[in-house]
Amino acid sequence: MASVTIRNAVKSYGAMQVLHGVSLEAHDGEFVVLVGPSGCGKSTLLRMIAGLETITDGQIAIGERVVNELEPKERDIAMVFQSYALYPHMTVRDNMAFSLKLSRRSKAEIAVEVNRAAEILALAPLLERYPRQLSGGQRQRVAMGRAIVRNPAVFLFDEPLSNLDAKLRVQMRGEIKSLHARLNSTMIYVTHDQMEAMTMADRIVVMRSGKIEQIGTPLDIYDNPANSFVASFIGSPSMNLIEGTVEDRGAQVVLRDRAGVEWTLPARARAHIGRDVTLGVRPEHVAITEGASNARIDNIEPTGADTHVQVDVGSNIVTLVRHERLDLPVGAEISVRNDPDRSMLFCPSSGERLT
Ligand SMILES: Nc1ncnc2c1ncn2[C@@H]1O[C@H](COP(=O)(O)OP(=O)(O)O)[C@@H](O)[C@H]1O
Ligand SMILES: [Mg+2]
Repeated sequence: MASVTIRNAVKSYGAMQVLHGVSLEAHDGEFVVLVGPSGCGKSTLLRMIAGLETITDGQIAIGERVVNELEPKERDIAMVFQSYALYPHMTVRDNMAFSLKLSRRSKAEIAVEVNRAAEILALAPLLERYPRQLSGGQRQRVAMGRAIVRNPAVFLFDEPLSNLDAKLRVQMRGEIKSLHARLNSTMIYVTHDQMEAMTMADRIVVMRSGKIEQIGTPLDIYDNPANSFVASFIGSPSMNLIEGTVEDRGAQVVLRDRAGVEWTLPARARAHIGRDVTLGVRPEHVAITEGASNARIDNIEPTGADTHVQVDVGSNIVTLVRHERLDLPVGAEISVRNDPDRSMLFCPSSGERLT
């Protein structure tokens, strides 16, 4: 087991820089998830840790050892990819044993490791099958088995669940987490799916355009996003972002949006009176209230436990989530209100959090 320390890592392909100085530490035994939109540099960073890409500038250490110049096989890591990359002509047992054979381990040792991994992953009954005789989830488990047999200090996962259907993805999420609890190894996991990040991570690293936007525990990032990008990327449905001007209404401070609709702000917003800002409100912090209507229902989606509602409020479409059944037709006029104490303000140009 080992920590992974990344110091100011830069990656360029020719003249194009795709990572602009990324620093982060995954502690020994930690489950760290790199999340961000497609193309932001997650795979590149993971492949640099693995040694599959060169490091243009900066330093990567596994444990105490700087690995910049080490070959992948000298780094004590194992990587699991989205495409399982199993050998079709080999049985599950041989697929799992392959890397150990390459490193010339004894037959007895290999058998012990393969059986141990098969037991952890419930693959024992499938050891003599070929990949084509397995379901997607089973193939993914074999891919993980190939990593486990090597007893690596660090596991690296690049979107390992993206090829699975939604239900299996949720199940495998749980399996990988219990694998982590059981092995207690350092794991760095890449995904573009914020829900995977939220449910699996000890800590989340949110990336955008080759930079880290924020690092924190899932709930800390959810409750205290550093900027409007993180705020809208993490959470589903996304946070509502409403532009307007902060105005003084005596006892209250309000945001007057572009259509003249007024949203109540927390008292600490008083510091920003007169300023143009972006108000951020999560869908669960918008309530349907009694009173004069200010919104019209655009769309209503019952999900079973919750109801998602899109309402037209002046110039904005606002999403709200209620933990109840709502018997309201599209087009109904209703009154909605944000919870001021759970509302955030962002700078409209930089996106930086103001309150
Ligand atoms: N071999 C390569 N040559 C040139 N550009 C690349 C190469 N690999 C990745 N890139 C570019 O680097 C950026 C980051 O890619 P990647 O790390 O794959 O993103 P992610 O995994 O977050 O979707 C993208 O703009 C991508 O086009
Ligand atoms: Mg990728």
